[in-house]
Amino acid sequence: MLLVLKHNEDDLGREAARIVGNAVRRRAALRLGLATGSTTLGMYKELVRLHREEALDFSHVLTFNLDEYLGLSASHPQSFHCFMHTHFFAHVNIPAANIHIPDGSIQGNYDQYCRSYEEAIRDAGGIDLQILGIGRNGHIGFNEPTSSLGSRTRLKVLSQETIDDNRKFFGPAEEIPQCAITMGIGTILEAKRILLVASGESKAAAIANAIEGPITASVTASALQLHPDVTFIVDQAAGSRLQQQEYYRRVLEMTAVLTPDRL
Ligand code: F6R
Repeated sequence: MLLVLKHNEDDLGREAARIVGNAVRRRAALRLGLATGSTTLGMYKELVRLHREEALDFSHVLTFNLDEYLGLSASHPQSFHCFMHTHFFAHVNIPAANIHIPDGSIQGNYDQYCRSYEEAIRDAGGIDLQILGIGRNGHIGFNEPTSSLGSRTRLKVLSQETIDDNRKFFGPAEEIPQCAITMGIGTILEAKRILLVASGESKAAAIANAIEGPITASVTASALQLHPDVTFIVDQAAGSRLQQQEYYRRVLEMTAVLTPDRL
């Protein structure tokens, strides 16, 4: 596990984009797992800049988003489809056919649909690099506390905490989705490399529990301790409750000397 501590959210976004950009340069047909959420905005902004100003080419990249609200069509302004198009896909050259986002408008045959999403990932050869945010309750994707650590893509009922966190994005009269389709923890752990971004004091406990706490379904991000190649990029506030900051700093220094390709 690598922990990269950044001064603020802007630095964090640039660092995440640098790692994604390098991965695309190394492998043009990168299979990229994507997340939405406010913490990812800086990363997408910088990736768009790298595309426009430094000719970062996404034309062979395949993407798989983690999740989508159930009951929202792709055109709904709060859908993750809309988020992705507004902040990323509309500004880079990923062919539409290479983009995969769970369809929140499906009605019925949920298991079959979720199986087909898993098959699409498998048929593509698996995910090379998975981007994650983290919820205040330690969720990754929409794998809420008590989700099975072996779970696959499926329907998930959102926790009250997550519904409350999302309320600000919806109008006062709008109904807030109660369920989502999300990749499972088992799905996420199969990615070759994982990059998790977190910013702000409200994420400090989740980050400390995920990295230094026990592996538990109560904090689903703690399952990342089982993965051999995870990088956490956090700002000062999100990293403030970590006990072993000094050790992580030394690991980073030695990694830069011994195995710089990991950075
Ligand atoms: C979104 C997702 C969620 C978010 C998490 C953090 O696709 O999978 O797990 O990454 O809720 O969201 P923000 O960054 O808005 O705090």
